[in-house]
This record gives sequence, structure tokens and C-alpha cells, in this order.
Amino acid sequence: MSVRILIGAQWGDEGKGKIVDILAAETDVVVRYQGGANAGHTLKFDGKTFVLHLIPSGIFHPHCECVIGNGVVIDPFTLIDEIEKVRAMGVDPAGRLKIAATAHVILPYHKALDKANELAKGEGKIGTTGRGIGPAYVSKTARRGVRMRDLLHPEALKAKIEEALVEVNQHLASLYGAPTFTAEELLPDLIEAGKTLTPYIIDATDHLHHALESHRNILLEGAQGSLLDVDHGTYPYVTSSSPTSGGACTGSGIPPLAVTNVMGISKAYCTRVGNGPFPTELHDALGEEIRRIGHEFGATTGRPRRTGWLDLVALRYASRVNGLSELVITKLDVLDTLEEVLVCTAYELDSAVITRFPVDCDELERVKPVYERFPGWKQSTVGITEWEQLPETAQTYIRFIEEYLKVPIRIVSTGPDRDETIILPA
Ligand code: IMP
Repeated sequence: MSVRILIGAQWGDEGKGKIVDILAAETDVVVRYQGGANAGHTLKFDGKTFVLHLIPSGIFHPHCECVIGNGVVIDPFTLIDEIEKVRAMGVDPAGRLKIAATAHVILPYHKALDKANELAKGEGKIGTTGRGIGPAYVSKTARRGVRMRDLLHPEALKAKIEEALVEVNQHLASLYGAPTFTAEELLPDLIEAGKTLTPYIIDATDHLHHALESHRNILLEGAQGSLLDVDHGTYPYVTSSSPTSGGACTGSGIPPLAVTNVMGISKAYCTRVGNGPFPTELHDALGEEIRRIGHEFGATTGRPRRTGWLDLVALRYASRVNGLSELVITKLDVLDTLEEVLVCTAYELDSAVITRFPVDCDELERVKPVYERFPGWKQSTVGITEWEQLPETAQTYIRFIEEYLKVPIRIVSTGPDRDETIILPA
């Protein structure tokens, strides 16, 4: 039996969807534990591409159960739309998709607050996905949230929304001059959504404990990335949840001692969407080139991603915070044409060389990366499935990462398709 957590070890978009899809072959239950439809997990197989925002990435494996855990914030309309899209691909999620009754609901006013808040911040904005994630977690922690189970009880739902709207409308109108909401206009669609989702809503933690007792293989699928974690990321330029491994336990009800592996995913280089410090960012033509070759545009918002060299200082920090037991390197092939590949091994901060990752943004904005340089392999690695077939220079680069982090590399991805993957022995 394995209970594996799979987390993004950078600023998100590491390729989690593809890896979950591969691991799903040997998994019985895939669980999303945080975030919401700000995530965009891309899967490519049989010549088809599919982007999942809320449904766990095991859905295209008929033997896999997919659980949306209590730590996720759910936009019910996006979820219904996604269920329909999965159905259109010939896959019926009925009976296999389970939604935690205690997961919180993203309501239309959360999205309005997200957008108004960003607009008001102007230059200082976070660069959120505009999906209402932050405001939904604010409602949750302020204990004024609506949970999935509430959608099934119209009278209680009405009372909760009316209570929440007192403050929400005040914020929207007086702080932002934005349109307000009434419970009457929100309720019919929400009640209808509740009816559609009724068959999926369960006590997910209880369900997962039965899965544990039955020794089923469980995979906890993180969204976003460790450096966007609300506690351990580059605050305030973070998301509002806990993508790190600790979040997997709180976001699912699976206890820490049940976890058998923590797998981190990193690209062979680095990207970031939205604002915030990014020490190894490339502002030049090379950065553009990596963006072009790597198709570095957001799967959810379509925004161009910022690109840069792999940052091992940041990656080691992520490894420590998550307790990584294994690592996946994705998008190696994107570097195929480069003359030289650089990797950051330390920072210069105020004329000292440090190997600590400063979580304080003011400090992180000031660091200058110290690079180790590797010759490029200048040949295609696209679709390679055997380690021995990789050019020696690419092998050296990957082994350097492994040695620096002291975490074994288990998977190297050489293209977006399920099959374009090297699996290394445990
Ligand atoms: P939010 O999660 O929409 O509140 O956005 C907060 C920050 O996290 C912004 O910088 C977003 O660009 C970033 N972010 C949120 N979700 C993702 C993701 O799935 N991949 C990469 N960045 C993300």
C-alpha cells in the first residue's frame, strides 16, 4: 500500500497533471487537497489534450476513484461544466468522483471580490487568477463560508448567504464601488447546482479512512506549488492555501503517519505566473525562447509565464519544507537547443554568499543568483524513454540536481505525452 503526496516544488505549472496521470495506473484513489479552479492540470494522451481544473487527474483511468477533498474550494458551476466536458470525452465520472461535503464553495461574490481587490491594488496587485480563491478562503477562515453540504439544504443555505452578504456587499460597494449581490439572485442557480452534484457529495474523510483500512493505494495531488504556499511561499505573492505536503493532511483528513512517499515535481528550468520575486528570471531573448519552446502560457488564464533558470536554492528549500523522498524533473526537452544550461546554486545577498532561501520578499528581491554552468546537449531528447538514451551532458545535468538536493530522481519527462517519460528504478 502507498499513500503518496505529489507536490509542485516551484511556483506551480511543473507538470503535475501528466505525472498524476502516469502514477494513476498504479493508484486506486486520487485526491485533490487544496486550491480550486486556479489550477490547470494538463493531460495529453492518444493525441488528445485535456485541462482539468478541479477534477483529480486520475479521472481518465477507469479503475481510479477521484476525491475532491475538504481543503479544496469549489466553484460548483465550473465543476459541473468540467464533469460535462469529461463526459464528452466518453468518461462518466458517476460513481468514481467524490466531493467532500465539507469543502468550501466559491460563490460569485468571491470572484467579484477577487477582481475588485486586484483592481484596487493597481501596480501592487498579486496577479491572481481571478477565480475567487483568496476571498473563498477568507470566508472559510472567518467562519462565514458556505460548504458543499449546504448546497443540499436550501433554507440553511439562504440564511448563510444572507448573513455573508451583509459584509460582502459593504466591501464591494463602499471599498470598491462594485455591484452588490442579493441572496434571491444567487440562490436558484446554487440550489440547482446542489441537485446536480448531490450524487457526488459524501463524507470524504470517512471514505478515505475506509480506503486506508482496505490498503488501497492513494495519491494526494497538490495544485499550484510550494513557493506559492500561504505560509512557506513568497508571501504576499502566494495563493491562499497550503500546496505543501502538510496541506495534504489537513486538506484530506489523511494523517501524517499514513503517508509513505512525498514526490516533488520541478521543471528542468523555472517559471512563475503573476507577480512576486523570481531570482533566476531571464528578461532577455533566451527567456522568450524558453517561453516559446516550452509553451509557457497559463493553462487556466492563458497569461505568458515568466521564465528563468532552475533555482536549486529554492528547490532545496521546497524539498526541506515538504520532506521530499523522490523527485520528478519535467520538460527536459525544452532545453535541447541551448548552447549552455545554467543552474543557480547559491545567492549573493548584500555581498555575502548564502545558500538559504530567504522567504522575506524584500530580501529575495535583492538576491543575485550564483550559477553553475553546464554545456548544452544540443540534440533532441523529445520522447526518450530510456535513461541510457539521454545525451551524457543531459545526464550530468540531472545527476547534479540529484546530488545537490540529496533526493533521488524517479521520473524524467521528455515531452507532454503520457508515453514521453523515463522511469528510473527505485
Ligand atoms: P490565486 O491562487 O488565483 O489567488 O493567485 C495567487 C497567485 O498564485 C498568483 O500569482 C497566481 O498566478 C498564482 N497561481 C495560482 N494558481 C496557479 C497555478 O495553478 N499555477 C501557477 N500559478 C498559480
